This record gives sequence, C-alpha cells and structure tokens, in this order.
Amino acid sequence: MTASRSAKTQKSPSTPLNQKQNLRPIGVFDSGVGGLTVAAALRELLPAEEIFYVGDTARVPYGGKSPATIERYGIEISGMLLAEGAKIIVVACNTASALAVPRLQDLLRVPVIGVIEPGASAAVAATKSKHVGVIGTRATVQSKAYERAIHAIDPSIKVRAQACPLLVPLIEEGWLEDAVTDQVIQRYLNPMVRSGIDTLVLGCTHYPLLSTALASYVGSGITLVDSARNCAANVRALLQKLSLAAPKNRPGGLKVALTDPSGSFLRVAEQALGLQVGDIELRSVQRAGM
Ligand code: DGL
Repeated sequence: MTASRSAKTQKSPSTPLNQKQNLRPIGVFDSGVGGLTVAAALRELLPAEEIFYVGDTARVPYGGKSPATIERYGIEISGMLLAEGAKIIVVACNTASALAVPRLQDLLRVPVIGVIEPGASAAVAATKSKHVGVIGTRATVQSKAYERAIHAIDPSIKVRAQACPLLVPLIEEGWLEDAVTDQVIQRYLNPMVRSGIDTLVLGCTHYPLLSTALASYVGSGITLVDSARNCAANVRALLQKLSLAAPKNRPGGLKVALTDPSGSFLRVAEQALGLQVGDIELRSVQRAGM
C-alpha cells in the first residue's frame, strides 16, 4: 500500500498537480451498500468525476466490531482504493469515519474525508429546539463522535444518541419497506421521539435508504438529516482547493467492487437510489502491509 506517515503531506494544499492526477477517481468506501447514498450525492454534485466504490460485503456489518478492527478494515480498504489511483478517499461510513479517519489522515498521502462533520453541520443547521437525536451503529454511538462534532459547532445543543444495530442487516437484505423493519424502527426510536428532539441525524450511511419508513414513524415535527449532500459539497470544495477537480466536460461514472458477492446489492442500488452501477467486480481484501 502506498502511504506516507507525514501528516504535513496530507494537509498541504499546494502540491503541484497535473491533468493526469485530476482524471484519477474519487475512492469511496463503506461496509456495504450504505455508502452508495454518499456516492449518489457525489454523482449528482460532481458528474464529471469518476468514482471507484468498494463495499466491504465480506465483513459487513462494521458496527459491532472493535475500534482496532474497524481501523484495520479502513486501512485495508483504503489500500484497495489507492491501488486504483484514488486522488481522494471518502469514508462513506460513519463507523469507519468515527474510528478510522484520524489514523487514515495521518497515514495516507491523499486527502481523506469522513461523514461525521458533514452530518453534524447538517444537524446544527436544522435544529431549532437545540435538541438533536442521533442514530447509528453501536461503534459509532459508543465513540461519541457526533456529540463531539456537534458540540464543536454549538456546545449548547443537547444530543441524545441511540444505537440501532439491527437496521444495517435489514437494509443489506433489501427490506426497505417491510412491516418487520417498521417494528424495529418503532422499538429503537420510540424513547427518542418521546424525548422531544426536533432533528434526527441518520448517523449511518445505510439509514437514508430507510428515510421513507423513518420519516413516517417520526412524523413531520422531526427533521431527518444525513451527511450525504454536505459530504459531497466538502469533497467538491476540497478538490477545487487542491486543483484536483476533473475537467467539467468529462462524463464521470461509478465503478463498484465488492469483497464478497451480494445478492441484494444491485437491486438496492438501482431501485432505492436510481444508480446505474453496471458490472460489479469482486476483489479480495489485501492485508495491510504497513
Ligand atoms: N454504513 C455504515 C455506517 O455508516 C456501516 C454500517 C455497518 O457496517 O455496521 O456506519
């Protein structure tokens, strides 16, 4: 894996760049299908960019794993993206963003963007009552990454977080509109809705795929926010700042690789997100040799 331990290199915006570098893909990863919600926002905002997406379906879900394991997964999948020539890495997974992004930023020679800060900014902009709910995986909730990111912007906001570990398997299974999923949502969200939040952060990139079911349960008094659009906007700003944006007239695209075959991946991507995924490649994860 090509990597540098120099945080200075990572943070410097002034490296001389050339056309060839700008044509390199944006590398995006998640444990499975969820990060496609971010890939869809990137496609919409940056249509000239090529996206190379890895869904780590061999090891989904990440949300119940330990911080050290999640960090290692992040390093290994980033190695796959760098091997594809990624010019920037988007960690389209809240769990990996919460637990692996600082290490990746320290280690890699390309910029790394996560989804926690974009989600936190969306929540701060949306809340009027200053009472925000966050749902995510167990690892994300235990990390308290959202509390930190929200309080870094506005320390007066009250944050209530709830882990919803059963939602990711239901989404990977494609049960987006299903009575069983509705029951699980009700069981997880009932105390939070009753606590008086006015904004709910979908703190897992899988959850926007359930936004219809979630919105219908929480009702119109609670605004649902997620990271996808803000994350895509941050990527656009960073590419411009680093002079790394693809030429505007180039037709971009989306290539997907998975680490294990998934029966429902294509169906969820195409039906729920309207994404044209095309052929999916299968790749094995290479152990990080660092
Ligand atoms: N979509 C991911 C997230 O945003 C990962 C979910 C999981 O694999 O548990 O947290």
